[in-house]
Amino acid sequence: MCAKVEGKARKVIERDSKVMINTTREHYPFVAEKGDGDFAYDISGEKLIDFSSFIGVYTLGVNSNESIRKAIHSQVDRLMHSAFTDFYSEPPVTFTEKLLAMFPKGFGRAFFSNSGTEANEAAIKLSRLYTKRPYLISFYNAFHGRTMGSLGLTASKPIQKEHFGPFSGVVQAHFPSPYRCELNHDHNHDCATACIDYIKRNIFGKIVPAKEVAAIFFEPIQGEGGYIVPPKDFFRQLRELADEHQILLVSDEIQAGYMRTGKFLALDNFGVQADIYTMAKALGGGLPIGATITRHSLGNIPNGAHANTFGGNLVSIAAANASLDYVIKNKKGLEAQVAAKGKYVMKRLSELKEDYEIVGDVRGIGLMIGAELVKSKRTKEYAIKERAKVLDECFTNGLLLLPCGTSTIRIIPPITISKASLEKGMDIFEGAIRSANKDLR
Ligand SMILES: Cc1ncc(COP(=O)(O)O)c(C=O)c1O
Repeated sequence: MCAKVEGKARKVIERDSKVMINTTREHYPFVAEKGDGDFAYDISGEKLIDFSSFIGVYTLGVNSNESIRKAIHSQVDRLMHSAFTDFYSEPPVTFTEKLLAMFPKGFGRAFFSNSGTEANEAAIKLSRLYTKRPYLISFYNAFHGRTMGSLGLTASKPIQKEHFGPFSGVVQAHFPSPYRCELNHDHNHDCATACIDYIKRNIFGKIVPAKEVAAIFFEPIQGEGGYIVPPKDFFRQLRELADEHQILLVSDEIQAGYMRTGKFLALDNFGVQADIYTMAKALGGGLPIGATITRHSLGNIPNGAHANTFGGNLVSIAAANASLDYVIKNKKGLEAQVAAKGKYVMKRLSELKEDYEIVGDVRGIGLMIGAELVKSKRTKEYAIKERAKVLDECFTNGLLLLPCGTSTIRIIPPITISKASLEKGMDIFEGAIRSANKDLR
């Protein structure tokens, strides 16, 4: 275990291991205590630069900003829960009006839940209800959540499904990865087209009739699966295919959305619109919320077909509303910041890729960036142990990072991070890459 896990932190981890059911904590042992802007503090008071946004939540700074915290406090004193799916309440309506204004003009209607996976569960049910069709398509390497419907769409690691199945009604397609095209096409455009052809030929031709497919779910940039950015043209081709067969497109914006790529909707980077969007994580400004947003032309659903207890919870809505107000007020500035900071990180990473064998690929849009580590640039063998070492060394030197995919590290700081913190974080990262690269030999 890392030298930093001393005193209080070690005790918490020991107690945790006796009472908590395991989750996904296989990397370094960070015990969170406090957060402020660019920084997180562990229980021993160690200060770390945050390049994780605490798994994509603190997009506007660790522990969010003062206006969000104030809105939460003030709503707590008025009314916390309004049974929004049984009674009416004004704040969720006001928030939804503002949220929908961030979508393509006249886009639609929203349903609120408590998490990303629930937002996708709602999208599954709604797409089946709207189309009266049973089947769904998702992609290899996708992550859409861990409840039973969303888990059927998820296809990034077998452990996520082991002993939980069967999952019926979902067929997986290939997602075009420019670095590792699963259909062995080297040129970006060819990989995208090959993936579309695969759906036509193998899925529609051999597995399910296109006319029985309700929706195709995708992440505009695959997150947990390895920060995979598809070729620019892919979603246009997918839209054409979906339109040809009246299939709905569902864009899971849970990790990539909410300004992370510089745009409110990550799919906008590809010049394409979906029929249903799902959001969570950053949307709640630090509190739990999920949202499923459907195109107006899909209409409404029968009363009683879908609901929940906590969706539209007033404290979560207050946080989401204050966070959205901040985004609306500072949109131009945030866009510029994401572009400039993203460019800086990509430049630093591209230099590392030139200098070190271990950095196989760097990719991303805005401040959603991944660096894939390999044992050899030629063979592209995954550098799994080396990645763990890099994460651990960064933690020891004061930088919080998270892995994704098989051997990728994600760089997703709060988009409000200062230039100084970004530079310092990249220096720490570079030091860890240098020492892991030495160990390759
Ligand atoms: C793209 C995507 N969809 C869905 C989810 C599930 O969200 P939650 O963990 O809030 O259920 C995640 C979580 O990482 C995600 O990244």
